[in-house]
Amino acid sequence: MVGAALKKVLVTRKLPEVVEERLAASYDVTLNAVDVPLTAAELADAMGRFDAIVPTVSDTIGSEILRVPNRQVAMLANVGVGFSNIDIDTARELGVTVSNTPDVLTDATADIAMLLILASTRGSTAAERKLRDGRWEGFSIVGDLGAGIQGKVLGIVGMGRIGQATARRAALAFGMEVVFFNRSEVTGLDFDATQLDSLDELMAAADVVSVHVPGGSDAPVVDAQQIGLMKPTAHLVNTARGDSIDQEALITALQTNKIAGAGLDVFVDEPQVPDSLRALDNVTLLPHVGSATEEVRTAMGMLAADNLDAFFAGTQLPSPV
Ligand code: DGY
Repeated sequence: MVGAALKKVLVTRKLPEVVEERLAASYDVTLNAVDVPLTAAELADAMGRFDAIVPTVSDTIGSEILRVPNRQVAMLANVGVGFSNIDIDTARELGVTVSNTPDVLTDATADIAMLLILASTRGSTAAERKLRDGRWEGFSIVGDLGAGIQGKVLGIVGMGRIGQATARRAALAFGMEVVFFNRSEVTGLDFDATQLDSLDELMAAADVVSVHVPGGSDAPVVDAQQIGLMKPTAHLVNTARGDSIDQEALITALQTNKIAGAGLDVFVDEPQVPDSLRALDNVTLLPHVGSATEEVRTAMGMLAADNLDAFFAGTQLPSPV
């Protein structure tokens, strides 16, 4: 007797080996051994040749790609909590199921937000550059002075899972005072935090602003006018999406010392990072590593596989978008 043909699944980027082995055991899977992102043309072509795709943040799956006339793909199991790389409205309209990977990366991403908060406020990038460049002339009581964060105000923009995990660390482990802006009311927090009525109020009040809102909107949530409201001693941290903030306005604010510093893990046109940003000493730059631990990337891949399995089994997805 001939069994049912295995579903054809395309994995767009390299996944941890254990995840790839799991997928290969259940599907007719095409992996990406070289880990080079697919082009738009390759993604469009894949839409007509596979039953499902396992994409990630580096795959822009817009309306044009989703609307290929011969589309066979019925499921996009995105590896990432963020899904601004996928045109969700079009996917919904066409009945293409989309899932993401929330929760498993919350702590790792909040850790990186704290790392950037500390790096920016303590000026570690400028200090490390000085040392590596051979410009360090020895210990100085009054040299390389940063700002302490104890008792300072942390403004969280977007009090979802990662915003809350960052705020909890800052409040309970680092003694920061937390204020936050969130479109809906947030209650039941297990640490002290004050919800503010407007983003403008937060931008003006905070010593450190940490951004945790999804990207993919028509306009950045933190725009030039809001960056203009920040204190000259304040720092801006972004671990969400590059387009969650106005990157050009931020660069200008850093160049002209309108704010004291920034820490960025995400950029508007990744992997492009403007030279003007890279030249600055008052910004710490990371290559989108918020969730980049062995354990978390494996858990993300496994959750994507769980979603895929549920979809083809016709059962409830663990994390549908
Ligand atoms: C996420 O999960 O959204 C991370 O940014 C990696 O894509």
